[in-house]
Amino acid sequence: MNDPHLWWYVTRASAVLAWVIMTAAVLWGIVLSTRVFRGADNPAWLQDLHRYLGGTALVLTLIHMVSLVLDPWLAMPIDQLLIPLIAEYRPLPVALGIVAFYVLAAVQVTSLVKNRLPRRLWKAVHYLSYVAVLAVAVHGAFAGTDAGAAWYQAVATVVVTATVLALIVRIIMARRRPTSAPVPAVAPTGTVPSLSEANPGDPLAVTRMRIVGKHPVADGIVRLRLARVDGRPIEPWYAGAHITLRLPVGIERQYSLCSDPADRGHIDIAVLRAEPTGLGSTYLHDVAGLGDELDVIGPRNHFPLEAAHEYLFIAGGIGITPIRAMIEALPPSRSWRLVYLGRTRSEMAFARELEQRYGDRVRVIAGDERAQRLDVAAEIGATDADVYACGSSGLLDDVVAATPVERCHVERFVAIDRAAGTERAPVTVITRRTGVRVDVPAEQSILTALQHAGVPVATSCGTGVCGTCETRVLAGTPQHLDSVMADADKDEIGVFYPCVSRATSPELVLDL
Ligand code: FES
Repeated sequence: MNDPHLWWYVTRASAVLAWVIMTAAVLWGIVLSTRVFRGADNPAWLQDLHRYLGGTALVLTLIHMVSLVLDPWLAMPIDQLLIPLIAEYRPLPVALGIVAFYVLAAVQVTSLVKNRLPRRLWKAVHYLSYVAVLAVAVHGAFAGTDAGAAWYQAVATVVVTATVLALIVRIIMARRRPTSAPVPAVAPTGTVPSLSEANPGDPLAVTRMRIVGKHPVADGIVRLRLARVDGRPIEPWYAGAHITLRLPVGIERQYSLCSDPADRGHIDIAVLRAEPTGLGSTYLHDVAGLGDELDVIGPRNHFPLEAAHEYLFIAGGIGITPIRAMIEALPPSRSWRLVYLGRTRSEMAFARELEQRYGDRVRVIAGDERAQRLDVAAEIGATDADVYACGSSGLLDDVVAATPVERCHVERFVAIDRAAGTERAPVTVITRRTGVRVDVPAEQSILTALQHAGVPVATSCGTGVCGTCETRVLAGTPQHLDSVMADADKDEIGVFYPCVSRATSPELVLDL
């Protein structure tokens, strides 16, 4: 510490490192905004890396400033470090460094409270990062002591060139209007979640969340933004996921997530007011307000976006919610189309936004605009894309009827009655972990029998649509009577839903 050169070294090293890491953060921001890695990986780690790079650059900048004060040769007064243009030494270049510091700090602070800020404000502050990196370049060139050194000039050339290129890419991306012109279809790699990978973390863990945003997004539809009460990031989730809200009125309701899976600061749901019986939606529309806290189970995913060379999304009404998250998750180069149906345009959440952002990739068919009815069979028959659909039972029945099973992915809000006409036979259920053997009569559900026998099984809807009671089957043949996902998918990952499903074998061994 007594070496008079020590602080000089610290000053130089921290400055150059801060500059390089700040540039890396900007470049990583480009990777995020251009969705280069979307569909090829869980984007959450990219967000984390971006944040850590920005935070590290800010810490290094602070070290740089403190070392300027502590350096006995410079002993820079603190006010000259904090107030632009009053420095005795090269006031203008020093001022640019000070401005860059404030911008960097503003970017970090606004990112921490992003959920409470208008998105435009957060974005505007974020874009100032480019200005900060270039201001640092001028600051270093005219206020630094290494500007003439070859190594410094090499670093400066790389950093400035990278920043300018990043800025150009960002401007082009902002101006580019997506079209339905054919783009090279890139098959997503194997790291797109498989069915068994679509639920990282404990899907039944209960998290306390706070309502941090509430806005109407269409007639009768309100968007709620939820963030963890403890301020920690949301568990990683994939497009197509939903959460279960435990409402203070004593009921649980499932809602699809409609935000960007890469954004772990919050999750969004859109809630349709279901008159007159919708106790859950009435509560969320009329009673729940900003700052209210709710217990949230999940996210849980029974509708994951899987690898495909091309996608056809079909959404009916509020069924747009999981589809919107899927569109957010895909990289711009991926080939997809959306057909979005609704009774009236004013009741169609996100319709205008999706049209504006994605141009003629999006076809909105609103009943009040005298639009032609969708011929579902013809629409699907004209493509070999994988079909993802969510909406009314009638629409989904048409989609299922028209789509080859291996390309058909639907999510239902209302259970279909698959038990009608099927014979319900008694079955003996054995729970491997708890060692219970239960004889389930034909008129009783397996879930109820298990609960009576003291075997705890999580449950919510009780009608075979939410997926909460999902249980692994270790032996025996389940008879799937639920509406959660395709039977082949359930068999592939070895699960069934005991609230409605039964067995075709006399015994069923469960992982309970
Ligand atoms: S409780 Fe909802 S699917 Fe069984």
